[in-house]
Amino acid sequence: MSEETLSNLLHENRRFEPPAELAADANVKADAYEQARADRESFWAEQANRLDWAQTWDRVLDWDNPPFAKWFVGGRLNAAYNCVDRHVEAGRGDKVAFHFVGEPEGTDGKAEGRDITYAQLKDEVSKAANAIAALGVAAGDRVAIYMPMIPEAIVAMLACARLGAPHTVVFGGFSAEALSSRILDCGAKLVITADGGYRRGAASALKPAVDEAVAKVEAEQAGLVENVLVVRRTGQEVAFGDRDVWWHDAVDSASAEHEPEAFDSEHPLYVMYTSGTTGKPKGILHTTGGYLVGASYTHHAVFDLKPETDVYWCTADIGWVTGHSYIVYGPLANGVTQVLYEGTPDTPHKGRWWEIVQDKKVTLFYTAPTAIRTFMKWGREIPDKFDLSSLRLLGSVGEPINPEAYIWYRSVIGGDRTPVVDTWWQTETGMIMISPLPGVTASKPGSAMTPLPGVSADVVDLEGKPVGNGAGGYLVLTEPWPAMLRTLWGDDERFKETYWSRYAAQGFYFAGDGAKKDEDGDLWLLGRVDDVMNVSGHRLSTTEIESALVSHPRVAEAAVVGAADETTGQAVCAFVILREGGSGAEGDELVQELRGHVAKEIGAIAKPRQIMVVAELPKTRSGKIMRRLLRDVAENRQVGDVTTLADSTVMDLIAKGLSSGKAED
Ligand code: WT7
Repeated sequence: MSEETLSNLLHENRRFEPPAELAADANVKADAYEQARADRESFWAEQANRLDWAQTWDRVLDWDNPPFAKWFVGGRLNAAYNCVDRHVEAGRGDKVAFHFVGEPEGTDGKAEGRDITYAQLKDEVSKAANAIAALGVAAGDRVAIYMPMIPEAIVAMLACARLGAPHTVVFGGFSAEALSSRILDCGAKLVITADGGYRRGAASALKPAVDEAVAKVEAEQAGLVENVLVVRRTGQEVAFGDRDVWWHDAVDSASAEHEPEAFDSEHPLYVMYTSGTTGKPKGILHTTGGYLVGASYTHHAVFDLKPETDVYWCTADIGWVTGHSYIVYGPLANGVTQVLYEGTPDTPHKGRWWEIVQDKKVTLFYTAPTAIRTFMKWGREIPDKFDLSSLRLLGSVGEPINPEAYIWYRSVIGGDRTPVVDTWWQTETGMIMISPLPGVTASKPGSAMTPLPGVSADVVDLEGKPVGNGAGGYLVLTEPWPAMLRTLWGDDERFKETYWSRYAAQGFYFAGDGAKKDEDGDLWLLGRVDDVMNVSGHRLSTTEIESALVSHPRVAEAAVVGAADETTGQAVCAFVILREGGSGAEGDELVQELRGHVAKEIGAIAKPRQIMVVAELPKTRSGKIMRRLLRDVAENRQVGDVTTLADSTVMDLIAKGLSSGKAED
């Protein structure tokens, strides 16, 4: 974000007070901040009582060996029981858990879909747990899930949780390569997938990527993947081998009786891979008790969730942490009715989301700024055609929401009635950390405002000293929180190094984000300060894409930067130096080939918007690529200070060569 944008932001003086009615009846009021400040541990203990524990904890927090935390020590519980069974036992079995909306239109011209009640969900999860156990999966075994947004994906996650088998969900848009490296890293013995899913009006295959991934895994570690469980969704032709099992064969015939075992509060619940500053994704480990407390409490507090009357829709994919915390674990622990939508916002028409809001009478809606900016581009005539009066609260996540998008969201989608909560958090934090409380906070467009009750954050300088109001610095979390990551899967050292070494003296968690405190001390998030990009709210590592590019035989060297993009926040821009004497495609054709190569190595989301073939890259004398200068080029700016370049003519060379190899689509 440029200095100019920043100072504009900080002069943003619009305020939106909580609606009086919402404030009067809010789940969480101003006293929660006081209560949590007075005694953070008893505050979280009180929130833990939202869950059903088979055995209560003896100690709220064990922080004797930082940064390795234990929450609700000695407590035992089953996450799936808390998300499903207990609602049925409390007499709410007939309540709809999911209004599933498939992408295709049904035969009657209406969207294809079905409602799944909590009682049905309990049966499905129990059957799946029995089927997965029969395939030899026991507590502690890892299961990889690579699925479209269909109910079976959630059933699969909950069935794993029920068995105490940590799942690792890999976004369906990731490549076979990305899937295989995750299977290998966490040692998954079962993969759950589907033949395919519906996207943009067509069946899009998943099983072939799984076959390719499993073959790669087999070459590295023979026998690791014992079975692949396949849901039939599209009916596409699939290759079926010895280890493949159809979901409808294994699950449909299984018993719907399954006794959930209570696991230790610190039993691993899942591993979610996310990009870091190196080429190797990090396996973020979340455990059971603290995570579920954090996800459930924050969902209740930030969305002011009234489970009896609200209809909640989070548009994220279950392949990301947002889907884990705010589709699966938080909302289901809270027993709400949700919308689950399989497809894209513009299929079969650009009003599809708003049609769903109207039809299902959605009251709470949670999406990303990139989606909001896309709808802005398409024009308000589209949402204006639908009745959105059921909405009472809107949420935003994934990247800073610019004031313009915030105001559009609030007025066009929210009819100027609804509060907008801008929620800052990360895969690592597991739960929302910084956000307005809709019944308490007078929100400023563009600011995530303040840490939630029970959360301690600050903005500090390089030495770790808190900056004053009106100043900027680095965002840190100063106290442990229940849903915090416990480590990186199999790599305690990298865990310590990545998050806890920068401010080791103070014991702060370093989030990797820049932030500013305004005159009132409210927080404005400014984006990553490391080599991590944020494209459409998804985290991508510059190094990972650089590695993908240099794995192409024609590429000698590559540098990747995130350049500002009107819709996606940032866009991937790559600079490559070609190997000498290579043959094959040239010019635009080669650029397209390289873009395709990145998509194949990582996934379509990582595909560079632009690839520029250059003769040199700007480097310091110590050989570090000066990404700042490349960003200037990618954003069509006057190139900044070049005095630390080893060869100051390099930027001229790059500028000259640009016209030759620029691609955009
Ligand atoms: C990074 C975390 C949290 C789920 C989705 C992304 C950025 C996230 C906001 C926000 C400004 C935000 C940060 C953060 N981010 N939410 N409301 N305002 N920035 O999860 O992939 O782990 O990425 O997303 O840079 O560090 P993730």
